[in-house]
Amino acid sequence: MIQIKQVVATCMAGLLLAGLALLPGTTYGQTIPSLKDTFKNDFGIGTALNNAQFEERDPQMTQFIVRQFNMATPENIMKSALIHPKWDTYNFEPADKLVQFGKKHNILINGHTLIWHSQLPPFMRGMKSADSVRTFFNDHIKTVAGRFDGKVFSWDVVNEALNEDGTMRKTVFLDYLGDDYVTEAFRLAQQAAPNTELYYNDYNNEQPAKRAGCIALIKKIQAAGVRIDGVGIQGHWHVGRVPLKAIEESILQYAALGLKVMFTELDIEVLPRNFQGAEVSQRMTANEQSNPYTAGLPDGVQQQLAADYESLFKLFLKHKDKVTRVTFWGINDGNTWLNNWPIRGRTNYPLLFDRNNKPKSAFYKVVALKN
Ligand code: G3I
Repeated sequence: MIQIKQVVATCMAGLLLAGLALLPGTTYGQTIPSLKDTFKNDFGIGTALNNAQFEERDPQMTQFIVRQFNMATPENIMKSALIHPKWDTYNFEPADKLVQFGKKHNILINGHTLIWHSQLPPFMRGMKSADSVRTFFNDHIKTVAGRFDGKVFSWDVVNEALNEDGTMRKTVFLDYLGDDYVTEAFRLAQQAAPNTELYYNDYNNEQPAKRAGCIALIKKIQAAGVRIDGVGIQGHWHVGRVPLKAIEESILQYAALGLKVMFTELDIEVLPRNFQGAEVSQRMTANEQSNPYTAGLPDGVQQQLAADYESLFKLFLKHKDKVTRVTFWGINDGNTWLNNWPIRGRTNYPLLFDRNNKPKSAFYKVVALKN
């Protein structure tokens, strides 16, 4: 009899442990703190979402997302190639689903992005007339920003308009619409989306030369009497080389313009790379050294990654009156774009959660800052 009771008790304990492991916010019976709750009095915590995630294809993933994040940015589906595939055709269905997801789970959506030279629709390729570019530009902003006004919390109105030296990047928009196109984009967005915050977003715009160009761009928009509410620093950095000084100077200088400052695509990559930033057209050739951690991340790198994230969040907390949002570019190391860029098929580890959504040392360092 005693033996039967012991077997039953052991089975019950096993079931309980298995159940706990499946609960959102727990892993192997241990409760995991929630990022959004940890920083609820400081800034929003966001993530990039792909279709599978906002379509809730995996209920456990949904629970995980909803527990950890209160803001989200679509990784691809609102880019012009996808939302506006033909001259007179818009595909709003995925974005509508995303908006529904946000509403259902109290997650604020940042629209990404209205005007970007990359991932343009095929009909924009080889476009050679100012009239056509102007027509696309006007129609696209009015239609997309208008449709989602008040449904998304904010828009990255213009993305990556600057070169590293702070000059304007040569794009189809600069070529045909001239220097003022960024201001014009914000003017159109302001008209179409009066209930939505409007941001300029870029990578490396914490670096002094690019930052100076970014400040000049913002001042130009403001001088034209056009609304701009915030600036996004994407934050695609490299382990052991996070530019903390430049980031702090940037927070102070952007905030001094009266803007909200946010970190919009945060990840810290650990694999070899011979350049900094996120220029998607830039690629590297694979060699024997380019994918060193397929069997796991060495402890030394894991600890450096944790130290980098800790220093970054210390800085964000120091300036929490100016920093309104910190968004990670992906949920876990399994679904980061950095597994496929600038070399396809690598094993990268840039985020706070591993491939099973288990917190890494970096996660614990970050949440410990509030305990
Ligand atoms: O959807 C197609 C699929 O049909 C096709 O089979 C497959 C083959 O390659 O490609 C799929 O499209 C890919 C798309 O992601 C969706 O997964 C594109 O090739 C790929 O280039 C695209 O990459 C995205 C990249 O922007 C493109 O510009 C990344 O997911 C996305 O993380 C990345 O995000 C950008 C931000 O928007 C702006 N800042 C930099 C950041 C990182 O590059």
